[in-house]
Amino acid sequence: MGRTIRIFDTTLRDGEQSPGCSMNLNEKIEVAKQLEALKVDIIEAGFAIASPGDAAAIAAIADNVHDATICSLARCVEKDIDAAWNAIRRAQSARIHVFIATSPLHMQYKLQMKPEEVLESIAHNVAYAKKYCGDIEFSAEDATRTDPDFLCRAVETAIRAGATTINIPDTVGYIVPEEYAKRIAYLRAHTEGIENVILSCHMHNDLGMAVANSLAGVEAGIDQIECTINGIGERAGNASMEECVMSLKTRADHFGVACNIDTTQIYRASRMIQTITGVAVAPTKPIVGANAFAHESGIHQHGVLAHKETYEIMTPESVGIPKNAIVLGKHSGRHAFEERLRELGYSLTKEKLDKTFEKFKALADKKKVIKDRDLEALVGAVPVSGEERYTLDRFVINSGNTITSTAVIRVRKGDEICERTAASDGPINASFHAINKIVGREIELEDYSLRSMTDGEDAQAEAIVKICIDGGEQLTGRGVSTDVVEASIKAYINGINKFFIN
Ligand code: KIV
Ligand code: ZN
Repeated sequence: MGRTIRIFDTTLRDGEQSPGCSMNLNEKIEVAKQLEALKVDIIEAGFAIASPGDAAAIAAIADNVHDATICSLARCVEKDIDAAWNAIRRAQSARIHVFIATSPLHMQYKLQMKPEEVLESIAHNVAYAKKYCGDIEFSAEDATRTDPDFLCRAVETAIRAGATTINIPDTVGYIVPEEYAKRIAYLRAHTEGIENVILSCHMHNDLGMAVANSLAGVEAGIDQIECTINGIGERAGNASMEECVMSLKTRADHFGVACNIDTTQIYRASRMIQTITGVAVAPTKPIVGANAFAHESGIHQHGVLAHKETYEIMTPESVGIPKNAIVLGKHSGRHAFEERLRELGYSLTKEKLDKTFEKFKALADKKKVIKDRDLEALVGAVPVSGEERYTLDRFVINSGNTITSTAVIRVRKGDEICERTAASDGPINASFHAINKIVGREIELEDYSLRSMTDGEDAQAEAIVKICIDGGEQLTGRGVSTDVVEASIKAYINGINKFFIN
């Protein structure tokens, strides 16, 4: 095997920038830990100048994650670079990622700078960042719509000023694979010093070519792919990490490169991002979609039974998808429960393990058999957000198609018990109104979805709510239960609790 391609994960920066994908501090740390388990080389943990919350999350990740390089984004502006360095300075391995746009459109309309001024800004700010940190990445934003010769000058300037990684992003998802490969070849042939730096690609998926473009970049000599779990990101998203990595692994015969990713952690990472953001992947999503390894048609099933490789180019186990074994039930003890979670790749803190076990016992009273998917749902249902201000104590619903629904909701808030009643059109709406009365804030429900996590009559339902409180930022709440109303109430309370710890 020849080169090793570095995987630069930007789920916590470009991914988190996408609508409905924001995460709180504890969630970001949990994701960063999973990225470490995946063995990504670089974690772009955020954009420190964007907000004090972003900066604090980057710093916390720098303190808690040791096996990956921790990176913060910064514009070509000194105060951005100061904030980036302050956030990452305690990391064992740190990187500042400096960017400025180089396309005529961006320079004229967004930056209102002349090309010469952009070059000066690159020279000044890359050198400024270099005083803090040896590992500097420079990105020429909108590089794929930049004049090729100007791109070479911009990159040369960054290299001269001390950049060690050069990123050529397709910011608007515009380029096609062959064209990108040619652009990289041109850059390599016409840029002084380029042989001394790592070249990187960063693709957006507006035309559905982010992964193909990344792979074309690898073939053209790029050594780093920037990507996100589940492909989340601005607009149509970024290149999906799992698709890039599994392409390199499955077609190693073609690409002839290696990467450090532990692919058996992919499925967990994907589930974690879906759980935290409430953004589910499509069933047909490659690698991690529900149908990615399902064989429906008779011909396919027959083929797979006779010999797996007839229709399977990679195995579900290789990406960490648990075999759907029936494992636990009412009589299973803590030991068996812990053992199965370990087999599924979870290593939970004692506190989370205790809470999950409690939920497992409650579920086992309702369901005869607990499958792996149930366990996954339970783990995801335990909030990572630290202390919960409100917990559901009990609810009573009166509903029907000819009456106005009423809900009585009782919650605990520390040692206090609060109960309120509300009436509305439907049991879920009535429940949410009753909770609003308890919380006493302006709560706007922006989105609500419900789906079945497991199969059968006693399936667990997952409710996702997106709410805004007092006009603040959108919060995602998630609740799981065999009862859809209970799942919805829990999701609503979960979202509200995030408001109070943020
Ligand atoms: O898409 C883009 O150009 C970016 C840069 C900041 C790398 O996200
Ligand atoms: Zn981007």
